[in-house]
Amino acid sequence: MKPTVLITYEIPQVAYAFLRRRYSVTWNKKKLTEDQLTRKIGPYQGLLTTLADPLTSRVLRAGRALKVVANFAVGFNNIDLAAARELGIRVTNTPEVLTDATADLTWALLLSCARRIPEGERLVRSGKFKGTHPLMLLGLDLRGKTLGIYGCGRIGQAVARRSRGWDMKVIYHNRRRLDPRLERLLGARFVPFDRLVQESDFLVVTAPLTPETRGRFTYRDFKRMKPTAVFINTGRGPIHIEKDLARALGEGIPFYAGLDVYEKEPQVDPRLLRSDRVTLLPHIGSATVQTRDTMALLAARNIDLVLSGKEPLTPVT
Ligand code: GLV
Repeated sequence: MKPTVLITYEIPQVAYAFLRRRYSVTWNKKKLTEDQLTRKIGPYQGLLTTLADPLTSRVLRAGRALKVVANFAVGFNNIDLAAARELGIRVTNTPEVLTDATADLTWALLLSCARRIPEGERLVRSGKFKGTHPLMLLGLDLRGKTLGIYGCGRIGQAVARRSRGWDMKVIYHNRRRLDPRLERLLGARFVPFDRLVQESDFLVVTAPLTPETRGRFTYRDFKRMKPTAVFINTGRGPIHIEKDLARALGEGIPFYAGLDVYEKEPQVDPRLLRSDRVTLLPHIGSATVQTRDTMALLAARNIDLVLSGKEPLTPVT
């Protein structure tokens, strides 16, 4: 009998095509709740999951045959890692392969905020565009400005590298300082958190969600940003307090915000939905055809490796 694998949600077909050659694969295409996952998981040895799946300790314990959970994401804050370790379940993620796509999307948000692209788009669609005007939709220049990065890991570093085209000064804050050689390569300088907040013209969050990063940006921080600053988050929503950001934006500082992630996804603070000074995207950091295919194949290969008794390519536990 072939070993069994459950794909929990809609993902690119390549993963299914790869796995079905050697496994008995069930492909569930509707989002599962914690209860539904708990009831379903019992017979499966491999699980290909997405950020939509709450892999709590209760779910993992119900996975009596479970050997591997391959998350289709670089983040794994949907998985109780302590429970997985205790139960001897391997967890894998999809780092590296989505770094460029996510850094590109971060820049797309940054440029769209600096040049007020969504406002311009809405203006044209509304039929209110009456021709170019010297004072219409004045935005921000980038050249020579300070780019601040909170969480300068793989994605943050790729964001930093892309800033060269604009000759930006790069500062960053991390739990741990980067190797000085890497700092030199990136042209990035480590600063304490407060200086990152106060000195950045464009402050970009590309950190993972951890107990240390949760709730890190509060009203007090937003109010200390430059009046012309732009705040971008493509990491995880709960790293900033959403109601604090909505309030601060309403009071005029920061100048603009760009979000791909939200505190209680998919809910968005209604004040942000009403605000003109925020660009809102639906968590599409890695959403390109090529990247999503590569992520799917990597997750499938991780399942195959673990179920064949080998080391996965990108282990988390
Ligand atoms: C997306 O948010 C990911 O973690 O891959």
